[in-house]
Amino acid sequence: MRIVLGVGGGIAAYKAALLLRLFTEAGHSVHVVPTEASTRFVGIATWEALSGHPVSTTVFDAVDTVNHVRLGHEADLIVVAPATADLLARAAAGLASDLLTNTLLMARGPVFFAPAMHTEMWNHPATQANVATLRSRGAVVMDPASGRLTGKDSGPGRLPEPEDIFAAALAAAGEAAAGSAPAPGLLAGRRVTVTAGGTREPLDPVRFLGNRSSGKQGAAIAAAAVAEGAQVRFIAAHLEVPVPEGVELVQVETALELRDAVHDAVNSTDVLVMSAAVADFRPGENADTKIKKRDDGADPVITLVRNPDILAETVQNRSASGSGPSLIVGFAAETGDGSGSVLEYGRRKLIRKGCDLLVLNQVGRSLVFGQDSTEVRILSPQDDPGTEPPALTGSKAEVARHLIQRIAGELAGCLHPTS
Ligand code: C5P
Repeated sequence: MRIVLGVGGGIAAYKAALLLRLFTEAGHSVHVVPTEASTRFVGIATWEALSGHPVSTTVFDAVDTVNHVRLGHEADLIVVAPATADLLARAAAGLASDLLTNTLLMARGPVFFAPAMHTEMWNHPATQANVATLRSRGAVVMDPASGRLTGKDSGPGRLPEPEDIFAAALAAAGEAAAGSAPAPGLLAGRRVTVTAGGTREPLDPVRFLGNRSSGKQGAAIAAAAVAEGAQVRFIAAHLEVPVPEGVELVQVETALELRDAVHDAVNSTDVLVMSAAVADFRPGENADTKIKKRDDGADPVITLVRNPDILAETVQNRSASGSGPSLIVGFAAETGDGSGSVLEYGRRKLIRKGCDLLVLNQVGRSLVFGQDSTEVRILSPQDDPGTEPPALTGSKAEVARHLIQRIAGELAGCLHPTS
C-alpha cells in the first residue's frame, strides 16, 4: 500500500518514527509529510533515512512534480500522527497552508488521524467540533490514549501507542477498500516459537505432577501469529484445547523435554513466547513401576528437585552468545499479597527473568486458568515506573491479537538483532 504519513508539531512526533518502521516493515511504501513545526522535534533527515523517500514540508519544493497532487492522489491511506489541535483545526477548516494540508485536500483514499495534545486542548469545544467535522466527512479520528502527557500532567491526550495506530489505521484502510487484497500480515516472514500448556512431571508410569494450565492463551497466541503471516513453531505440553491450524507442532510432556525443544528452536526463531506453565519442580525419582501402597502402612515420600528456568536460561544464553531470538516474551501469573501488589511482583519478575516483555496475569482459583476471558498487562523494561501499563481485558483471542501487534511493533524497533 502507498501510505502518506503526516506528522504534526507535537512532542509525540518521535513516536511517528516507530509507526513509520511498522508500516515499512510490513511492506508498505511510506511518504512522510511533516509540518514545519514538527521538524523542530524530528528533523527531515530522519524521515528521509527511515522512509527512503525525499521529504518536504512545503508545496514549493519539487514544484515540477506537483507534489501535493501526486501524494494525495496516489495515497491508498493517509495517516496523521501526531495530529495536533492546530492540525485538526486546519484540516477541518480545509486550509491549504502547507504540503500536508494540501495533500489532505487532494486525498482520494481513507484519512486517519491519531491526535495528541494536552487534555484541556482535546476537551476544548473547538477541538471537539473539529473532530466531529472530520468524522462527519468520513475521516477516522482515533480517541487519544490516557496517561502521562508532556509535562507532569496526565489524562486523555496522549498519542496512542504506535502499534495501536498501525493496527487501527490499517483496519480503517481495509474497511475502506473492502474487497481489495488483504494487507500483508504484521509478522509476514517472521519466525515465532510459542510454548503452551502445562508440563507433566512423572512420578511413575501412571502418575504425574501437573498444573491447571489449559494452553488456551498459548494456542490463541500461536493462532494470532499464524493469522499475521508468521511461521509458527508450537511447542505444546499438555493442552485442553486443539492445536491451532497452520503451526509446526512439537509435542512435549515434561519441563526437560520442553527445554530441549526450546533449545532446538532458539537460533532459528525471531520471537520466543513462553506461555507454557512449566513446573518449577519435578519428582527426584521417576519410578519404573507403579508406586504401590506399602504393607507396613508407611506413606511414600516424594522428593522434589528444581527444574531449570527455561525462560531465564534462554535470556542468559542470548546475552552470553549474542545470538538468539530478537524478542523473548515471558508470562507471569501472580496473586498480590501483603508484601507486594500483582504489578510489583510482575515488575520484579521481569527484572529477574530479564525478558523483553512480560505478560502479567492476576490469578486466583476461578481467574484465568481455563477461562475464556482474561485481563493482562504487558510490562517492558522501558516502562516508566510511575505509570501503570494499561490493562487489556477481553477474550484470550483478543488479548493474543493485541500481544501479536505489540510484538510486531517491538520487532520493528528491533531490540536484539538475531544473528
Ligand atoms: O517463575 P514463574 O514460573 O512465575 O515464571 C513464569 C514464566 O517463566 C513463564 O513464561 C514460564 O513459561 C517460564 N518458566 C520457565 N521455566 C520454568 C518455570 C517457568 O521458562 N522452570
